[in-house]
Amino acid sequence: MVNRLKRCLVFKEEPKRIELLSFLFDELYGKEDPNQEFIPININLILTLSRNPCHFYIKITEKRFLKLFIEDDEINVSKLKGYQEKDVAYLYVLKDDFYSKCNDLFRGSLISKNMHTENEDFVQKANQVIHSFLIDFGISQSLIKEVHQVIDESLKELSKDNEINDLLLKFKGNESMFLYGHSYLTSVFCTMVAEKKGWKTMKTLQAFAVASMLHDLGFSSGDTAKYETNTLKEIENCPKTLREEILNHGPRLAEQLSNKTKISEDVLKIIAHHHEGKGEESYPRNISSLHISQMECIFNMSHEFSVGLYAIAFNPRKIRPLIDKVVDRYSTGNYKAIINAFKDAFSDFQ
Ligand SMILES: [Fe+2]
Ligand SMILES: [Fe+2]
Repeated sequence: MVNRLKRCLVFKEEPKRIELLSFLFDELYGKEDPNQEFIPININLILTLSRNPCHFYIKITEKRFLKLFIEDDEINVSKLKGYQEKDVAYLYVLKDDFYSKCNDLFRGSLISKNMHTENEDFVQKANQVIHSFLIDFGISQSLIKEVHQVIDESLKELSKDNEINDLLLKFKGNESMFLYGHSYLTSVFCTMVAEKKGWKTMKTLQAFAVASMLHDLGFSSGDTAKYETNTLKEIENCPKTLREEILNHGPRLAEQLSNKTKISEDVLKIIAHHHEGKGEESYPRNISSLHISQMECIFNMSHEFSVGLYAIAFNPRKIRPLIDKVVDRYSTGNYKAIINAFKDAFSDFQ
């Protein structure tokens, strides 16, 4: 990374934004040491929570950390913003705490009420934080605007149907921000892959937008949608009612929407199969990757990537390994025809 940046400086190549982010991260916070006890968390991300999932520390020297915020206390927005004004971008959590206490919180709630007034609608709330991530990733403003418009128009059209409008209300509320956020990101990523595949037409963009926004509304609430990221083994260990809700949220919703003329067959299939075609982790029908359509392939890979970003707390250094993991996981059957478009779409994330 440093060598590549030096080369950029010598040859006046433009370094990619993601490279700069990772470089700054390394320079300011040191290379990640596998034995290191602490994990850095961007203060912007902490500001999205309502309570401290665990203790937060500030780095004083390479080896000294000072405890600043206590587990379970309410997030102190003014103090956190004060640190940001002093150019402190990251606080730290203990590695054990990160894995045992932060995951659910980061994937469960992207934005806290502390950041917003009650009057703002859910779309604006989610967009505010997610947009800054997308810009940091180097995704163009015009693409983001385009996806936003397609989602906006699709939601307006869909909400004319009372039954669908009721489903869309699940996006409201603080605990639904993961539900909205990962759906929105999935739509952005599907658009990027479709573009590389040469499939970027208004029809496909609308299909991806509608599928992205609806795909998890089979969950009873934004709160249960957080189980979206659980492994099949974790799901099987859940109590029966919850287990059935998680396993069937896709097919049940597809069935419920099957008589809606506004929703195409392609979208219904994506909704029903968005957890299928990934080998042992496929559910609920364990459909092989040979029986997944190419639209579904684009959706499933983009979805896996968007959900994965929450699990790595949007850490720029972990994005490349995450992309490689998604490519690895979806490298069989009909996914083979999509892999190059997926890799191309995210080739800037080196
Ligand atoms: Fe999802
Ligand atoms: Fe899902």
